[in-house]
Amino acid sequence: MYPERPAGIAYGGDYNPEQWPREVLEEDVVLMREAGVNLVSLGMFSWALMEPGPGRYAFGWLDEIIDRLHEGGVAVGLATPTAAPPAWFVARHPDVLPVTREGRRIGFGGRQSACSSAPAFREATAGLVRAMGEHYRDHPAVVMWHVHNEYGAPLGECYCEHSVTAWRDWLRHTYRDLSALNEAWGTTFWGQTYTDWSEIDAPRANHTVINPAQSLDYARFSDGQHREHYALQRDILRELAPGVPVTTNFAGTVNCKSADLWQWARELDVVANDHYLKAERPDNHIDLAMSADLARSVAGGAPWMLMEHSAGAVNWQPRNIAKRPGEMRRNSLAHVARGSDSVLFFQWRASRFGAEKFHSGLVPHAGTDSEQWREVVRLGADLRALAGVRGSRVGAEVAIVWDWESYWALELDWRPSVDLTFRERVDAFYEALWREHVTVDFVHPSSDISGYRVVVAPSSYLLTEASAKNLHRYVEAGGNLLVSYFSGIVDEHDTVHPGAHPGALRELLGLSIEEFHPLREHETVTLAGGERARVWSERVRPAGARAVRDFADGPDAGHPAFTRHDLGAGTAWYLATAPVTGLRDLLAQVLDHANVSRPRGLPETLELVRRGGHVFLINHGEEPVTVEGVSGTSVFDGVRHDGPVTVAPGAVTVVVASPHP
Ligand code: GAL
Repeated sequence: MYPERPAGIAYGGDYNPEQWPREVLEEDVVLMREAGVNLVSLGMFSWALMEPGPGRYAFGWLDEIIDRLHEGGVAVGLATPTAAPPAWFVARHPDVLPVTREGRRIGFGGRQSACSSAPAFREATAGLVRAMGEHYRDHPAVVMWHVHNEYGAPLGECYCEHSVTAWRDWLRHTYRDLSALNEAWGTTFWGQTYTDWSEIDAPRANHTVINPAQSLDYARFSDGQHREHYALQRDILRELAPGVPVTTNFAGTVNCKSADLWQWARELDVVANDHYLKAERPDNHIDLAMSADLARSVAGGAPWMLMEHSAGAVNWQPRNIAKRPGEMRRNSLAHVARGSDSVLFFQWRASRFGAEKFHSGLVPHAGTDSEQWREVVRLGADLRALAGVRGSRVGAEVAIVWDWESYWALELDWRPSVDLTFRERVDAFYEALWREHVTVDFVHPSSDISGYRVVVAPSSYLLTEASAKNLHRYVEAGGNLLVSYFSGIVDEHDTVHPGAHPGALRELLGLSIEEFHPLREHETVTLAGGERARVWSERVRPAGARAVRDFADGPDAGHPAFTRHDLGAGTAWYLATAPVTGLRDLLAQVLDHANVSRPRGLPETLELVRRGGHVFLINHGEEPVTVEGVSGTSVFDGVRHDGPVTVAPGAVTVVVASPHP
């Protein structure tokens, strides 16, 4: 359920007028109109003002602001401020303060200073949210409820006494009887057999490694506690204001490791994502694209909301590099290209005080006589021109497997190499596909993947039997699956599948692995095609698969590094190392074999994405780029194109209706 208003693409962001004198509100509304801002998130950190004392709710100040915005034609996503419980509340209930893995109770003075499992926090949350719902249920400006802020970041796991109580309940509910838990956790190892539920603790800091199955379950449990805290609020709001969508903003789909967004997405009416560039990475627009593609994917392909990004610099990286002219525009339109129906920012006006005063805003400290403000106004005009994009979908022929549980499990302690990380492998494949101008979806390994020509599974370490069967069926029915090393190794309890690795995928890949040969830190190996690779080598023993490339040197010289196994109507490919050169060529073999359509001959710096009938051409490079075969009308200047379209350096062109270039 997408918010009905504003029409077209929503534009605006977090608005914190409580930081400013009343007159500034007047100026803000005038400026919002000038820029075309039509949606703001309000109240995000205002619990202390909304409830100045226990059960004493004060909404008068907020009414005035919402009414004024409404008169100005600006809609409101009203935030429940539970990410910032007030000082008086924490002083009365110090037991809500989260405890770290090391056993340190955090103090008040930041935000997210209450544990999602703490009964007093849940009770106060319910009271406040009910009061808000009752007060604002009929306000015409309130088009959406925005619950909390970025669950899981920075507070992922909590180790307080309330968490441990809830954890034992969760375990009882999940395993029913203790022997099932003992078996699932393999507690005979290191003599950890439990004889009573009360003996089980959270996986606290330890002088050695904690039982990995215990840690993995704690990640599941902790994420679920935040979801319960969210659902508590959502259910109250749905009851009081039926038909008004409820959401919460993800702390960056690709960056918030602690939240299983496949599960979260089911609980939301509309998926909302935040994304901040890693300022020092020169090609950080690729990370942006990946975050947006993952947001669209967890939304099931439906339009989603970019809830936060930045107009310029952030303030929390080691070096907070300001965006260059045109960069905010490219970033914003790239999100729209990849399925967002909103372009929202943190925040409207740069703060004068507090922790984020050096963070950019749409209205900078320099005021409106600034390049930044002129870009803000221009972006508003661009988004009005793109109103017709709203609701349309992005198609993809290729998918990458992304499973948070596998991510968590892979990065527990004592793996064969510290260089085995989930993001490193996913990023490598995503980047290669991005440079090939291939749009990708992300998928859970148990989901319906039958519609994709190619599915890539990078380091799918944890794979349940059911997921492995799903992949098997996909290949047999004609799909192309490309699996990279250290996949299909363990089940949902981090227990190795029986027999030789990769237990869950042996038959599908037509091979087994005799031995892992992790490489030294800077060591590389060479493949027979001249490709150089790092991190990993292993002894692959084909049993049906054919070698496409052998290792030319290293511990597995003369043995397969890249294989294919034709199975049923499809092919399962396996890559047993991490190429630093040549990954694109290896990948291209798979894409060509599967007839994946993609534009040829375009420079890597040109991002081309199709959304509905619109073609987005984003030039991240320093040279003009001419794209052949795009015909239609350019939405920003109304120019008709029949054939080549030239996109200036740093510019964005969006053309409506065209054949494939
Ligand atoms: C986000 C957060 C915002 C703001 C922003 C600054 O993670 O949700 O409230 O702090 O970062 O970049």
